[in-house]
Amino acid sequence: MLTKEKNMRLTQVGPDTPGGKLLRRYWHPVAAVDELMREPTKSVRLLGEDLVLYRDASGRYGMLERHCSHRSADLSYGFVEEEGLRCNYHGWLFDATGACIEQPYEDTVNPAKSLRKNGRLKAYPVREKAGLLWAYMGPEPAPELPDWEAFSWPNGFVQIVFADVPCNWVQAQENSIDPVHFEWMHSNWSRRMKGAKRNEAPRHLKLQFDEFEYGFVYRRIREDTSEQHPLWTVGRVCLWPNAFYLGDHFEWRVPVDDENTLSVTWSYIRVPRESEPFRQEVIPSWVSPIKDPVSGRWISSHVINQDIIAWVGQGRITDRSRENLGASDRGVSLFRKRLFDDIERVEKGLDPSALIRDPAKNHRIKLPTIDEVLIEKGLPLAEYAQHPVWKHHLKHFPFHYGQPEEVKRAYEAAMGIKTEAVDVVNI
Ligand code: FES
Ligand SMILES: [Fe+2]
Repeated sequence: MLTKEKNMRLTQVGPDTPGGKLLRRYWHPVAAVDELMREPTKSVRLLGEDLVLYRDASGRYGMLERHCSHRSADLSYGFVEEEGLRCNYHGWLFDATGACIEQPYEDTVNPAKSLRKNGRLKAYPVREKAGLLWAYMGPEPAPELPDWEAFSWPNGFVQIVFADVPCNWVQAQENSIDPVHFEWMHSNWSRRMKGAKRNEAPRHLKLQFDEFEYGFVYRRIREDTSEQHPLWTVGRVCLWPNAFYLGDHFEWRVPVDDENTLSVTWSYIRVPRESEPFRQEVIPSWVSPIKDPVSGRWISSHVINQDIIAWVGQGRITDRSRENLGASDRGVSLFRKRLFDDIERVEKGLDPSALIRDPAKNHRIKLPTIDEVLIEKGLPLAEYAQHPVWKHHLKHFPFHYGQPEEVKRAYEAAMGIKTEAVDVVNI
């Protein structure tokens, strides 16, 4: 339970809010490299600010405030040039530092009285990693952009999936440290949707949460697993501050504003040994719809779509003054405590948790990973098909609804398989 004041402190993301100041200390994935290859400008809303992301004609990325400093035209309709982004209204040209480097008519008629010094836009650094474009909106010096080991795994088919989720990021992230929901929201609900009349999923018996340098690890024992099972020995990672890492994929809950979140999934699927060596030239990205346009209901067929139903179901910004936390919510309490502690650290002028400052340390950082051996060594197709978890990937993409045909075909070609359409995922 949180008071209304504490709930605001936890959930606000704007530039002048305590939570927003904390979130500005981290890099956030905002788009995919392949999107900017298709269209070199993209309007982005991040941490309550309207921005334009672009790739100029020299291949450099920039992120500027969205509205031109002349008379506020929308720069996401601008032209990219060698030196930066040019407004399509009267041609003012901006570079990636936000400087206005050309004002065509002003420069012609009144070169001595340039308006350029008044024309500067807010600008934020952008970097490319793992097929994603990452932005940093905090004070300099920026920390390292984390180089998680998974980003360098070979022989994998990677895809990036976005979903626009109309609720605050904290309730999405609380789902990253909530093991018991898996039994109900995924296992039982999927079985029910297929006709089960009873709750048949293995029940949770014991949980443990351990804090570490980059977040929390949670462990679980269910009726069908023991202390020897990787769900207990390795666990899952609630990655600080706004991500979830499950070995084969990451999920970031990127705060758009107080009431909206961009869900970003980066999914790696090891190709069978017969398909090695496999190298992806471009990592494909796509947007997953979350609402059925005919019924108006949320889509519930895939794993992360199911999660999204929990997040949005709690309201735009959930009212934490009416909740009743129990033993299953131990992780949620730990997560909130650490978030409050970090907000306070930033207020005191200190670095918050999990920033990487040493470039030497930022090289293929290992995170606890279930099935690490499989990922390192690969499996022949026949054994793949027997694997309790990975076999599902041979049938369909389980995480998000709406995989485009061309991504499905590329995946099938990489894996050497044929997938099937699915009504509800098997989990
Ligand atoms: S509004 Fe952008 S150049 Fe005039
Ligand atoms: Fe889930």
